[in-house]
Amino acid sequence: MRIIDLRSDTVTLPTPAMREAIYRAELGDDVFGEDPTTNRLEKMAAQRVGKEAALLVASGTMGNLVCSLTHCGRGEEVILGDQSHTFLYEAGGMSALGGIHPHTVANQPDGTMQLADIEAAIRGSNVHFPRTRLICLENTHNRCHGSALTPEYTDAVAALARERGLRVYLDGARVFNAAVALNVDVRELTRSVNSLSFCLSKGLSAPVGSLVCGSADFIAEARRTRKVLGGGMRQSGVIAAAGIVALEQMVERTAEDHRNARRLAEGIVRIRGLSIDLPKVQTNILYFQMTTERLTASQLVAELNKRGVKVLCVGANRLRAVTHYGISREDIDLTLAVLGELMNTS
Ligand SMILES: Cc1ncc(COP(=O)(O)O)c(C=O)c1O
Repeated sequence: MRIIDLRSDTVTLPTPAMREAIYRAELGDDVFGEDPTTNRLEKMAAQRVGKEAALLVASGTMGNLVCSLTHCGRGEEVILGDQSHTFLYEAGGMSALGGIHPHTVANQPDGTMQLADIEAAIRGSNVHFPRTRLICLENTHNRCHGSALTPEYTDAVAALARERGLRVYLDGARVFNAAVALNVDVRELTRSVNSLSFCLSKGLSAPVGSLVCGSADFIAEARRTRKVLGGGMRQSGVIAAAGIVALEQMVERTAEDHRNARRLAEGIVRIRGLSIDLPKVQTNILYFQMTTERLTASQLVAELNKRGVKVLCVGANRLRAVTHYGISREDIDLTLAVLGELMNTS
């Protein structure tokens, strides 16, 4: 049975070109700075996002952690969205390992935090308060419908941060999806932040890795932080080789994933018992609701599974589907047919 796995874009497998590049990668010891393939990827990544330097890390979670630990000391505070991946799904790493205090601000449905809310969260100088150091943004925003933050919004947050002597970090796990969806150069989304990370292993389909990017000084410090976390990876060129292919060949094709997500959403609108907020579907992530009492989301997931379609249950009547490399337009049509049949017969 063909399996159509829409649970996440993290399920993507490396392309044939990536496997070939991994096989042929020139390797060395990266902790000595001698892995030529990793050095090449880091240079390429920095240039691509318009920063001075970059650092390969094992995962998006490690990228977020390396950056918060590099920007902030113990007892200092990070302002971040209450729906952000870092706050919800990273095991409290910044406080567990760095003694950093997360200060949440409400995420709006489009993934932004209102400037007034951010401003209100910035601490004044008072012996009672932690010191605010950093504002974290997430683009695209996973929990907020895969929404893309615009260059204008990012610049406005950065301007506020500058005015108040703070730094801005972007969790850009899917920032290339945002750039493609908004039809802008990714540098427009990164130009005003002090540091960012992006993932190779989600929409870009590489098997492992994320890049932390920022000024040369910041990356030198981040390299130390990565070492503390056990993230110095020796012959990391086996990972970097696939990352180079990801950056060279897999960015523009995410437009196809966005078209497929749209097609899926437009089909879901027509299925009785399901509902979706169509204008919110901008990139490759979509959330939809069940509007019938006859079936719960987990029951629907189980029935879909039996028919080879996998989606995530994210609430009593809420589901998530993510399109990615390896999912075709035909797969979307098949998914819609299976969904339609299940909803009509249940
Ligand atoms: C926005 C965002 N940031 C960070 C991560 C963490 O990435 P990883 O699973 O590589 O640790 C994810 C994972 O889905 C994510 O969606």
